[in-house]
Amino acid sequence: MRRMLVTGAAGFIGSNFVQFWAEHHPTDNIIGLDALTYAGNLASLEPVADNERFTFVKGDIRDGEAMHGIIKREGIDTIVHLAAESHVDRSIHGPDAFIDTNVRGTHELLKAARDVWSEDWSGGARRFHHVSTDEVYGSLAPNAPPFTEDTAYAPNSPYAASKAASDFLVRAYHHTYGLPVTTTNCSNNYGPYHLPEKLIPLTIVNALDGKQLPVYGDGLQIRDWLYVRDHCRGIERVLEKGRLGETYNLGGNSERRNIDVVKGICAHINKIFAGDEQIRERFPKCPAAVGGDTAELIAFVKDRPGHDRRYAIDPMKATLETGYGPAESFETGLLKTVRWYIANEPWWRAVMNGSYREWIDLHYSGGKREAGSGKR
Ligand code: NAD
Ligand code: TYD
Repeated sequence: MRRMLVTGAAGFIGSNFVQFWAEHHPTDNIIGLDALTYAGNLASLEPVADNERFTFVKGDIRDGEAMHGIIKREGIDTIVHLAAESHVDRSIHGPDAFIDTNVRGTHELLKAARDVWSEDWSGGARRFHHVSTDEVYGSLAPNAPPFTEDTAYAPNSPYAASKAASDFLVRAYHHTYGLPVTTTNCSNNYGPYHLPEKLIPLTIVNALDGKQLPVYGDGLQIRDWLYVRDHCRGIERVLEKGRLGETYNLGGNSERRNIDVVKGICAHINKIFAGDEQIRERFPKCPAAVGGDTAELIAFVKDRPGHDRRYAIDPMKATLETGYGPAESFETGLLKTVRWYIANEPWWRAVMNGSYREWIDLHYSGGKREAGSGKR
């Protein structure tokens, strides 16, 4: 029976992970910790709110003393570290928060784990699992092989650089102090409870409201999409089978161009609307509500500075060593995701009306991005 601390528990992946873990490991105790920044949302933890083995703690990973207290008081043996500033666009506008949380915050958590666990060290019974990103590897050329764990780090955005720095600290704490760590570097996640500032949820909610669907630059950038539950299963596999001090790449075997992702969402919406009058009535501003094509809303806008062209993951090491493998194809996962946003309108309406809205208003004038070089 584990006593697990999940940092960033009220975020997108954190809330999915807590729900996944509670379902699959009902005798484990889970402490979900989160500072509840603009990205944290307690509504995403509602499915576990009544679970007596789950406790939510509001706390900041940068507060080393508080982290020390929680790990010691709660007898934590497993830390799944997800708390981070996570949005590349925000890191371009304001990198400081990324250094502070992702680098300094991770270091405070590492120090606290080391201090508490070195007081009562029991070999393999402890684990610090660090969740990182494929963005640390930089951008791939069109025909280059996917990232492996041996690919050299070449982070391009302040977000990616801050994650790379945190990965190195985790590595160093293992190498120098013997802290029992594992790290996973995963590709772009998507699924329920994803904040609509990222491509897939933004496209879905804007489409439902009949708003512009902004595609940066030429829309030919490629990401390797991973359904969030498959990511959670991947972390579980690494916690159970991963070797200490090792890193594992988790991907979805689903490389897609951004423009095709956006068109895929539009196609799902068109089809769902065509067969459901109630949904057409609920979202009257969506072109599909009157038999139109949702893809009419696509608008090519100014590109992101330093925009990485392609990410792709080779998950072979995780597959061979831990049995990892994604269950969802991109098509099945995307359909589930579109259906989830249609069914869970109150969740994203509340998010859109909250503090996240302020950032959008600041950087997207009137909800519209600065126009790029026209429609393609
Ligand atoms: P998210 O932004 O949705 O959630 C991050 C959570 O961390 C939020 O709930 C926020 O309140 C919390 N947080 C931020 N600063 C904190 C602090 N100082 N102390 C405590 N909590 C704090 O992000 P996400 O998409 O769920 O990503 C989770 C992790 O997975 C991150 O480490 C991210 O780098 C990594 N990751 C994400 C993706 C992806 O596609 N979303 C891909 C690869 C890796
Ligand atoms: P995003 O979801 O922000 O994830 P990341 O930057 O971590 O990959 O973006 C995914 C891709 O979609 C990325 O190439 C940027 C692009 N994008 C758009 O084209 N339009 C948008 O409105 C957003 C948010 C992203």
